[in-house]
Order: sequence, then structure tokens, then C-alpha cells
Amino acid sequence: MSDAVLKVQSLTKKIGNATIVDNVSFEIKNNEIFGLLGPNGAGKTTIIRMITGLINRTGGSVMINGSDLDKDFEGAMNQLGAIVENPEFYKYMTGRKNILHYARMSPNDISNERIEEVIKLVKLEHAIDKKVKTYSLGMRQRLGVAQAILHKPSLLIFDEPTNGLDPQGIREFRDHLKLLASEGVGILISSHLLSEMQLMCDSFAVIEKGKLIHTKEHMIDEKAETIHQVSFAVNDGELANKILQEQFAEIPILSFDASTISVTATREQTARINRLLNGNELDVYEIGITRKSLEDKFFEITEQEMRESV
Ligand SMILES: Nc1ncnc2c1ncn2[C@@H]1O[C@H](COP(=O)(O)OP(=O)(O)O)[C@@H](O)[C@H]1O
Ligand SMILES: [Mg+2]
Repeated sequence: MSDAVLKVQSLTKKIGNATIVDNVSFEIKNNEIFGLLGPNGAGKTTIIRMITGLINRTGGSVMINGSDLDKDFEGAMNQLGAIVENPEFYKYMTGRKNILHYARMSPNDISNERIEEVIKLVKLEHAIDKKVKTYSLGMRQRLGVAQAILHKPSLLIFDEPTNGLDPQGIREFRDHLKLLASEGVGILISSHLLSEMQLMCDSFAVIEKGKLIHTKEHMIDEKAETIHQVSFAVNDGELANKILQEQFAEIPILSFDASTISVTATREQTARINRLLNGNELDVYEIGITRKSLEDKFFEITEQEMRESV
């Protein structure tokens, strides 16, 4: 048994002659916040609309917590909470009335205790008896989250959830997502904003022109193969340069002076360089590591992709 709450395989959407989504596959585990990252028009909303059953697929399969969308649509939908378009509310009703109305329309039995629990979870207890028209965008977003999680879905999907939110609202939303994920929910969010995904997601996929061009677990990972820029503060930079050139020639040296030497190296290589310098009677005072941001990686990936497609 796989522990994926969402498993998307070979998802494809064609409209007329155009292939809008092209053979996209990925998985989301519970506890995981997974980002679909890509520029406007990349196909993110189309992917999400297919996963949530709002539009037909041309090809591919979707499994939500073990339920196949084709074989058990209701079972799959029961595991899902989603905000695809901006959440719609009755603005002249209170938040609570909106939630109660929604709960009554749900095919699931939703207890009053659950409603109270969810209102607390999204921190709307002080505003829940006020009319929605008095709510800020962030509060409406939270009411939308409350609605989406009422039936305790194992998968949550949000399409560009932070559009229009101010930095404070974005931060609060992020905290909510992390809380929900920590309770075992798998979360899919889409965004065209790299910096935001970086703060919000555990893993991400880059979508461009309908194709998934890259997936990566843990954007800033500590895995051995990740290359970082590493600088060593030493008592003799020139000697360090000489030693590395002679004894560890595959390490690219970026720069050196009397007291530092900078290279690009993996985690393992960093340890080896340190041992090598120490073994040659050099003093290493400090090792500084500059990690690449997701933004750097995103541009690296898309630039590489562009070069390859020329
Ligand atoms: N119903 C449709 N008919 C024709 N083209 C569409 C339709 N829906 C989306 N598209 C096109 O598919 C592409 C991807 O759209 P979309 O999924 O909305 O991208 P994103 O959400 O990443 O901005 C765009 O080029 C868009 O114009
Ligand atoms: Mg979109």
C-alpha cells in the first residue's frame, strides 16, 4: 500500500489541437504540502480542475487516498476539500450561517462539535457571528478553508490561494496550512510566486506549457548530492588553493585570497576538503555555506529546459 493521499498518473488534457496538460504525474503524501509552481498559463488550474473532477480528463488517472476518480468518484470526493475559484459566500449572512448552510448541503453528517472545532482552527471565533461582507479578504479565505475542511478530508487543494492577500494574510494562511499538514492532511497548492512556494511547501513540481519539467523533494535539501557554494576561512588561502588543486582537482575553485577560499562542493565533499586542509597543517576557522534559493533553482531549471528545447 502506498501512503500517497494523491496519486496523479499521466494526466493529460487536450482542447481542440492544443495539449494544455501533457502527461503529468506526481504524488503527495499525508503531512506534505506540495506546490505546483509555474507561470500564468502553464496549466496549473487545468490540472487542479481535472483532479477535483470539475472537468474531464483526456487521459490519465487520479487516485485520492486510494479511491480512483473513475471507479469511485464519490469516495474520492469524500476525501477531498478544495478551493478552486475564490470561495463564494452569502455576504449578507454571518460566517456561522454560511458554514451551517454548507454543512447541511454536505453529503456527510457534520456535527455541531466539528463546526465549532473548525471555527476555532481557522481562528474565526471572534468574527463568526458577523456578516461576511464585513470580513477582510484574509478572513474570507479562512472561512473558505473552514468550509473545505469541515468533512475532515485527507487531501486539500487550493488554487493560487494567496492571490490578493496582504503579507500578514499570507503568513496566517501559511501557518494554517502547516497546522493542517501536521495533523496528517496532504495539501496541494498552486502558485506562480516562487518566494511564496519556498516558504510554504515541502516539495514542489515546476509546470511549464502543460508539462511537468521538474519535481523535487525538499527544496532546500541537505542531501549529499546537492551542490552549495562553500567558503573556508583559513590561515593560508594560497596554500589551501595549492593543496586543493593538487589533491582534489575535481573541486571547482571559485576564488581565494590570503585568508579564504571559495569552492562549489557537495556536503560530502565539504567534509573531505576540511579533512584535507587539516591534514596539511592548515587551520580552518570557519566554513560558510551559501544555499541556493528555490528562485535560483527555478530559473536554473527553466533556463536549462529552454536551452534543451532549442
Ligand atoms: N477551456 C479552455 N479552452 C481553451 N484553452 C484553455 C481552456 N482553459 C485553459 N486554456 C488554456 O490552457 C492553458 C493553461 O491554462 P491554466 O490551466 O488556466 O493555466 P494556469 O492556471 O497555470 O495559469 C492556457 O494557455 C489557457 O489559455
Ligand atoms: Mg490558474
